[in-house]
Amino acid sequence: MEVKTSLLDNMIGVGDMVLLEPLSEDSFLENLKKRFDHNEIYTYIGSVVISLNPYRSLPIYTPDKVEEYRNRNFYELSPHIYALADEAYRSLRDQDKDQCILITGESGAGKTEASKLVMSYVAAVCGKGQEVNKVKEQLLQSNPVLEAFGNAKTVRNDNSSRFGKYMDIEFDFKGDPLGGVISNYLLEKSRVVKQPRGERNFHIFYQLLSGASDDMLKKLKLERDFSKYNYLSLDSATVSGLDDAANFRTVRNAMQIVGFMEDEMQSVLELVAAVLKLGNLDFKPESRCNGMDESRVKDKNDLKEMCELLGIEQSVLERAFSYRTVEAKMEKVSTTLNVAQAYYARDALAKNLYSRLFSWLVTRINESIRAQAKTRHKVMGVLDIYGFEIFEDNSFEQFIINYCNEKLQQIFIELTLREEQEEYVREGIEWTNIEYFNNAVICDLIENNQNGILAMLDEECLRPGTVTDETFLDKLNTICAEHQHFESRLNKNSKFLNDHSLPHNCFRIQHYAGKVLYRVEGFVDKNNDLLYRDLSQAMYKANHSLIKQLFPEGNPAKVNLKRPPTAGFQFRASVGTLMGNLQTKNPNYIRCIKPNDKKAAHIFTDSLVRHQVRYLGLMENVRVRRAGYAFRQAYEPCLERYKMLCKNTWPHWKGPARQGVEVLMTDLQVPAEEFAYGRSKIFIRNPRTLFFLEEKRKQCLEDLATLIQKIYRGWKCRSHFLLLKKSEIVVAAWYRRYAQQKKYQKIKHSTTVVQSYTRGWQARKLLRELKYQKKCEEAVTTIAAFWHGTQVRREYRKFFRANAGRKIYNFTIQRIMQKYFLGLKSNLPSMSPIDKSWPARPYSFLEGVHAELRRIFHLWRCKKYRSQFTEEKKAVYEEKLEASELFKDKKALYPSSVSQTFKGDYLEMVKNPKYQKLSSAIDEKILLADVVNKINRANGKSSPRLFLLTKKSVILADQKTGQVKTSLPLPDLSSVSTSTQSDGFFALKLKEGSSSAVKGDFLLSSDHLIEIVTKLHRISSLAADREKLNVDISDEFLVQFKQDKVCVKFIQGSPKNGNSVSCKRKNNRLLEVSVPTSP
Ligand SMILES: Nc1ncnc2c1ncn2[C@@H]1O[C@H](COP(=O)(O)OP(=O)(O)O)[C@@H](O)[C@H]1O
Ligand SMILES: [Mg+2]
Repeated sequence: MEVKTSLLDNMIGVGDMVLLEPLSEDSFLENLKKRFDHNEIYTYIGSVVISLNPYRSLPIYTPDKVEEYRNRNFYELSPHIYALADEAYRSLRDQDKDQCILITGESGAGKTEASKLVMSYVAAVCGKGQEVNKVKEQLLQSNPVLEAFGNAKTVRNDNSSRFGKYMDIEFDFKGDPLGGVISNYLLEKSRVVKQPRGERNFHIFYQLLSGASDDMLKKLKLERDFSKYNYLSLDSATVSGLDDAANFRTVRNAMQIVGFMEDEMQSVLELVAAVLKLGNLDFKPESRCNGMDESRVKDKNDLKEMCELLGIEQSVLERAFSYRTVEAKMEKVSTTLNVAQAYYARDALAKNLYSRLFSWLVTRINESIRAQAKTRHKVMGVLDIYGFEIFEDNSFEQFIINYCNEKLQQIFIELTLREEQEEYVREGIEWTNIEYFNNAVICDLIENNQNGILAMLDEECLRPGTVTDETFLDKLNTICAEHQHFESRLNKNSKFLNDHSLPHNCFRIQHYAGKVLYRVEGFVDKNNDLLYRDLSQAMYKANHSLIKQLFPEGNPAKVNLKRPPTAGFQFRASVGTLMGNLQTKNPNYIRCIKPNDKKAAHIFTDSLVRHQVRYLGLMENVRVRRAGYAFRQAYEPCLERYKMLCKNTWPHWKGPARQGVEVLMTDLQVPAEEFAYGRSKIFIRNPRTLFFLEEKRKQCLEDLATLIQKIYRGWKCRSHFLLLKKSEIVVAAWYRRYAQQKKYQKIKHSTTVVQSYTRGWQARKLLRELKYQKKCEEAVTTIAAFWHGTQVRREYRKFFRANAGRKIYNFTIQRIMQKYFLGLKSNLPSMSPIDKSWPARPYSFLEGVHAELRRIFHLWRCKKYRSQFTEEKKAVYEEKLEASELFKDKKALYPSSVSQTFKGDYLEMVKNPKYQKLSSAIDEKILLADVVNKINRANGKSSPRLFLLTKKSVILADQKTGQVKTSLPLPDLSSVSTSTQSDGFFALKLKEGSSSAVKGDFLLSSDHLIEIVTKLHRISSLAADREKLNVDISDEFLVQFKQDKVCVKFIQGSPKNGNSVSCKRKNNRLLEVSVPTSP
């Protein structure tokens, strides 16, 4: 909920003087003092802000404060300059009303500070953004520049503005600043050449000398020492708390931000330096022949340097200080200047130079800060003008200043009353005119075109003939004598004749703020503001861009014989414009008051404040404000504030606020004449009524506070009790819950155990069954699976890869075998049985096959070979075969017999006639016929015999005669014995007891032993009725010689016996045959 605060809350004294009761000057001052002592430096009179200078920094200008006052209604918070600034800014932004903020007060009262506070507040609350911030910065930074050139230390104020300033800040429709225009009013230029005791010249001189670098000073031909310059008063050259050097830097920086070029800054400083140099010019009289003194520049060094600085020809300037050209009736007359006139001219030049420089600065700043956009602007003007001044010695400046203040007062009265009046009309309240002092008469006295003081001064200045200040006063005396606000010793009605407080050369004006005594001395001169034309022309000739601009009237091409307008005239005109300007705007007043003369904090000098309260017309202000109704407030906030005073409106009023207020007022029995109902506001005539309401409210608030306290305490106790009760219930509930929980858990546990056993048993049983079932199912499934598997495998085996190996193997093997066989076929050896060659085996695993095939092939080849044999050949081979069976590897003679063909009939019996008889004697076919040697049994000598073999017998016949000597039937033969050696000996052994046995065994030798024995054996084996003939082969065998058994022994023959076989009878029993060793 938003807290509604009001000006009326926590008031120290009264925040708004309109509510002061009783209203008197004393109570007014008392209220101010009370507030001042409590650091409340701001107080309202209606919408006017009175500001007391605290002379110390108060923590009331923080960004937080800005936020606090931002967008709040004027009377919502305690009085503050921010409230006024906010009100002005918001009505500018939201209601499109141009505003002006008029800050008045005497020198040192805080006007300039106030204007800066307003500007900074507006800058803080208005729009933001790069462009806007630049504009704001330029507007704010124009202040230090103008203060450096236009402010000076005075006895009243260390930073006193010596010019009037009015600044229009321009805003766009959103309330963002666009730019500004500054107008300056009447710089107190006399200060340039002379400062009252305890005061200083303008800050810039001191800042330049303290803050500039050595280099810069050298360029400007200056020295750092203040005492070197006549125009700088020495008694207060340095001011405590004022750092000129630092300020110089600030000013240069500010000039840069505002947009001054480097060369412009240099030119400005050159002019400042020139003014200082000018002050050092001294003149001496030089007698002329006509007896007149003519002034001459004493020490030309300063003049020279100054001319160098400004680019002026020295002689021209020098001449201008000695002569003066007067033009009368189109004729130029040159008159000499005396020393005093020369000094006058010098000072006039210095003053003009400086004041024109100042005006140029303002123009230049305006160029920078002027709003660019051509659209319609909203304008907020801030007027910081010198305040009403009453010095001991008041001159033309004070007169002008006070005139200005008089005009401001006029506009203040006019606008305030007009506004007041307008509000009554707006609100439909009857308006009764009230009496107040209207200072229009005083304004008229000063500015009236016919007989106003300024008009008369101008008239006097322009009048031909001798014009002095006295003649001016005389004129005043004659013309203004009747005026009730004008006083003079020589007044016609001479009622002041004996008034010694009014000297002869003075006149006194009864201003709205008090009587001021003006000394007429200098009025004419100052109004004329004359600068000898020679000087302005000399300046125009300067080779310096800025100087030339400042003295346009020096241009000989534009010689103007008309006098320039007087200072008074100019001022009146500019004030007139200003007033016209202000009247178009909604005024906001800040009236500054200086609490003491010592520039000290915490001191409230009663008399001083009283004086200011008087001349500022604050009492009148209050009175005017109170003339109709002292207080007004819109219905809504009024009802909100006082609704607790009536039961009908408390706590809520349903209906229009105005009705609520009416009910409230009726209920409170406020007399009808004490208030009036406007359209949107209630108007309260007397502050008393408001205070009555406030008092009631306060009481009511106390009651309400008590009520609230009561209810709060009750509520607190109750809620505490309820809390305790609730806690108790909660605790009990929790405990019960806990106990029940425990019990429950126990039961639950037991149940669970029992249940778990049962369930466990059941479950196990079930599990067993299920397991069995599952196993059965698994078995079935497995069997089926195997069965199916087998079937499927069987069905698909051929498709399976597992069999591919075998298949591939088989295939490969087949292929290899095929290749092998084909290879073998094409590679077979010859058909000759004795061919030993055979292809190499290609694979080791074929070893057995290969060998077997070789064997088979060989057999087959042999068979083939055999099959081509004839019967005879076959028989021959059979014999050969038999020979081999008998002798192979047994008898050394055998190998040599293999190649010999078994001829059989070596004797060719049939053909040979020698044996005709023999063959005819033998009736059987002769199977073998050969010559053999018959070994003599007695000596071992051999004798040839024919050896014939038939199927039935062996026949031995004499070789020569062919006579059969012995015929042995084959069945009588029991065995044949031979040796193992290469001899041809063989013994035919006869069966014992046979008919032939009587002859004894036969020992024979033949070259065809193998054939003979083989044939013998063959015949015996073919005969079915006989047993086989034995063939004994050994190197010792027994032979039956008649009765004797003789052992035939074969030995290896010695080499001396030659190669022939020798047989010798060793003894009865032994016949030794020596056989040569076979090769
Ligand atoms: N609101 C303020 N808070 C603190 N000091 C102030 C305030 N207003 C004025 N002063 C002091 O008073 C001095 C004079 O104020 P200034 O505004 O220059 O007076 P004026 O412009 O009325 O001559 C300032 O230099 C400052 O020290
Ligand atoms: Mg000031």
